[in-house]
Amino acid sequence: MNIIVTDRPEQAFKKAADIIACEIHHNPRPVLGLATGRTMESVYRLLVERYETAMLDFSTTTSFNLDEYVGLLPTDKNSYRHYMQKHLFAHVNMPVAQIHVPNGTATDLDAECAEYEANIQGAGGIGLQILGIGNTGHIGFNEPPSPFDSRTRVVHLDDITRRQNSGMFGNDPSRVPERALTMGVGTILEARKLVLVATGAGKASIVDAALNGPINENVSATAIRLHPDSTVILDDAAASIWKGNRRQGS
Ligand code: GLP
Repeated sequence: MNIIVTDRPEQAFKKAADIIACEIHHNPRPVLGLATGRTMESVYRLLVERYETAMLDFSTTTSFNLDEYVGLLPTDKNSYRHYMQKHLFAHVNMPVAQIHVPNGTATDLDAECAEYEANIQGAGGIGLQILGIGNTGHIGFNEPPSPFDSRTRVVHLDDITRRQNSGMFGNDPSRVPERALTMGVGTILEARKLVLVATGAGKASIVDAALNGPINENVSATAIRLHPDSTVILDDAAASIWKGNRRQGS
């Protein structure tokens, strides 16, 4: 695992954007796994800037988002489909037929999950998967405990996550959907490259658990340490506890 620590969050976002741009440049048919959350907004802003300055062309890129809330229509302003539209898809030339976000309003959610997995396989697998990290240690919405061989499925969201994500729901955790569809940890581990980005002091403790703690299913992000090509990009604040513990040799 490669760990990059930058002085400032902007540098961390730029590193992530550089890696994504490189993946797009170097593949005739890139397949990206995309994430949502506040961290990614800055990364997508940089990608949009590069598209606008003709440095990046998304026309051959296929994308698969990690997750979606159950019960929210793609047009709902709190859905991840809407988030992606607002922060990336509306501004770049990725053809709509190449964009995939799980459908949280499918009548048969299990069938939707199975089809999502099949679509990923059909696209040749994910080349580069971008990840954030939630306060429960989740990647995607893989709440504790999530088996490392789990696939795309319906999950119940942890109360910690519903509190963390309540900003978009009028700061009312009870308005955050109770369930979501998410790629499984096993699905994520099959991507050829993983890049996890975390910034800010609020992430320092969970980043330490992910990087220093025992590898186990109660902190999904520890799974990335099992991947042969994973990179973690942190700013100084997010790295602070991990660095201290590493110095003590624990
Ligand atoms: C949501 C997403 C996760 C993401 C997390 C981090 O919970 N499902 O995939 O990692 O947000 O969010 P933020 O970047 O806002 O801290």
